[in-house]
Amino acid sequence: MNQQELSKLCHDMSLEEKLGQLLQLEGFFFQEGGVMTGPEQRMGLEENEKEMCGSVLNVWGANNVKRIQDRIMAAQPHHIPALFMLDVIHGFRTIAPAPIAQGCTFDPKMIYEGARVAAKESAVSGVHVTFAPMADLSRDARWGRVMESTGEDKYLNSMCTRAMVKGFQGENLADPYSVGACVKHFAAYGLPEGGRDYNTVELSNRTLFEDYLPAYQAGIEAGACSVMTSFNTLDRIPSSVNEWLMRDVLRDKMGFNGVLISDYNAIGEAMKHGIAEDAKEAGKLAMKAGVDIEMMSHCYGSSIKELIAEGEIDEELVDEAVMRILTLKNELGLFENPYKDASEAEEIAYILCKKHRDTMRKLSEESFVLLENDGILPLKAKGQKIAFIGPYTKKQDLHSVWSIIADEKDSKSLADVVPKMFGGNKYTFESGCNTVEVDTVFNGFNSTVAYEYDTKEAEEAAIINAVESAKKADVVVMPLGEHRLQTGEAASYGELKLPEKQLELLNRVYEVNHNIVVVLFNGRPLDLRSVKSKAKAILEVWLPGTEGASAIANTLFGKNNPSGHLSMSFPYSVGQVPVHYDSFSTGRPKGKESSNVKFCSRYIDLPNTPLYPFGHGLSYTKFKYGEVSLDKDTLTMTESDVIEVSVPVTNCGEVDGTEVVQMYIQDVKGSVVRPVRELKAFERVELKAGETKIVRFAITEPMLRFYDIRMNYTSEAGMFKVFVGGDSTCEMGIKFWLNR
Ligand code: GLC
Repeated sequence: MNQQELSKLCHDMSLEEKLGQLLQLEGFFFQEGGVMTGPEQRMGLEENEKEMCGSVLNVWGANNVKRIQDRIMAAQPHHIPALFMLDVIHGFRTIAPAPIAQGCTFDPKMIYEGARVAAKESAVSGVHVTFAPMADLSRDARWGRVMESTGEDKYLNSMCTRAMVKGFQGENLADPYSVGACVKHFAAYGLPEGGRDYNTVELSNRTLFEDYLPAYQAGIEAGACSVMTSFNTLDRIPSSVNEWLMRDVLRDKMGFNGVLISDYNAIGEAMKHGIAEDAKEAGKLAMKAGVDIEMMSHCYGSSIKELIAEGEIDEELVDEAVMRILTLKNELGLFENPYKDASEAEEIAYILCKKHRDTMRKLSEESFVLLENDGILPLKAKGQKIAFIGPYTKKQDLHSVWSIIADEKDSKSLADVVPKMFGGNKYTFESGCNTVEVDTVFNGFNSTVAYEYDTKEAEEAAIINAVESAKKADVVVMPLGEHRLQTGEAASYGELKLPEKQLELLNRVYEVNHNIVVVLFNGRPLDLRSVKSKAKAILEVWLPGTEGASAIANTLFGKNNPSGHLSMSFPYSVGQVPVHYDSFSTGRPKGKESSNVKFCSRYIDLPNTPLYPFGHGLSYTKFKYGEVSLDKDTLTMTESDVIEVSVPVTNCGEVDGTEVVQMYIQDVKGSVVRPVRELKAFERVELKAGETKIVRFAITEPMLRFYDIRMNYTSEAGMFKVFVGGDSTCEMGIKFWLNR
């Protein structure tokens, strides 16, 4: 359809039809079973009201989508096709590593490829739009949803968000195997007080614009067709009814003119927030804020008609929302082909195919971060007695809780793959203990927890057996970690330690064997002090997805040389949280960790630095940085002017490897305080053993812009420092000037 035809369609629709387009319902209104991603509500809908809805979430499967699409179109006077949306966060059925892990790849190209795989598998299964990428900056590991973010840095988040949007949407939404992207959760959902999900967010406008909006902006500039509101308040106003945030900022300042969808019942929750007396007032506030689709609440459908009659709402606000929704359906080609790419034959052909598995395995391998290694890794491929001891030894569900379609039968465990891939050693495989205490209750999603040991006595016997195996082993590999249901939505923790029983298992193994390699499965930075004190190596594998086990085996035995670098700082303890590298100096900086100056900003009982900093990541080889040099030391204010930074990087080890070379810049003085450094560029550099490459970066004036004292986005003349290295603590800052 062209825009004129769409306008005519909107004009011809009754108000009832228009309000139907604004409603998004869960799949359980149209089918038995399925998954629920929010609190169940039947909303007292009449039978025909359901079929008037404009979109459906949590329905997939080519034939299933076709059946429900037929039913909805048949019921509607103008037979308008529905949008089918789903949380395809990091893979549909062939699951990629969790986004926090993908951020550690520092590889937008591979992240794009992973999103392409996810798009193809979901498109042939009838999905039109995915509720991803999550672009929320995350600096608080207590918040369970850090797992869904790509970490603490706005530049890295922006690059990852852009790559995911492009990967999901392809060149054109109507193209085969493209699905719409939905950048979420707008805005600053990642800063809940106390790290407690859905909690209040308090930050200055400057921090909002400077740190929290850039990744959403990157997604919008990449062409994201939709944005989702967040549950939290900003400036004491819930996002979904925040007219300033949604109209002045998102639409006017950031230039978003796509579909704005509420999060699950978020409009209805304006009443719980205490900002709306009833559904009618919530509906009025949200419509004024410009929220187009109401997900799983009925404030629009139950009140807009009355509000229009009372002159409280202009029907043209409704028409604006309807037109944006119809335009998206048109961009997806749904008026010509309501089923889009849904095809049972292609589901069979593409889902879990070798190409997809290979792509996700490579993404997993690149996401692993070697936190510690005294040389015990890589393991020898033969002649060793190796005991695998830990609850992740035999687990096949190595994917995050946001893997709605995943089936653990699609994956193998370490116990399955290691002997087949590296058969020259003698192996034992034991879980040793459960992931979490027996009877731990998780609500929501697929909250079943499989316990290998269902009594304390059985678990104690398992630990004793494991210790016996450890005694006889040359090396003990310990796959430990959080249960997948301990991260994600509504999974905030006040402590950041591994489950007690796993720490006990580690301690008791350590009593008999010090050659320990810990393989860590988790969705958030953890307090690893007690692990670090006992392990000779720590390989962070996060929640690695369908091909995780083979990716880990390749890495443990050196077929893959780890190249991941942390997308989020690991705090020394929860007391440090939030801890992030791009902090401010303060008027009394602590300076060197060793200094014990009294009157400075520091903890008495903890260090000020994290256990592992943003950007940290070791390799099986060693990289040496030569002298950083600049081709000049002054940049003019013209955008095209460039300072070229170059640095020789040498692989001075025995094996080939890939280094993530990072460039940070410090604005030494500004009209407002500036971070001690900010990531401005990075590059993955493959180096053969002994090889040296000159790595080059460009510094430009736009790179130096920020929100000044008058909230103008601009650069200011003065002195800067540039740092280049393998993590955010790299020293040797070289001075340069802007417009000296
Ligand atoms: C959930 C999440 C959001 C998700 C939506 C639909 O509450 O907050 O990220 O996309 O509901 O499942």
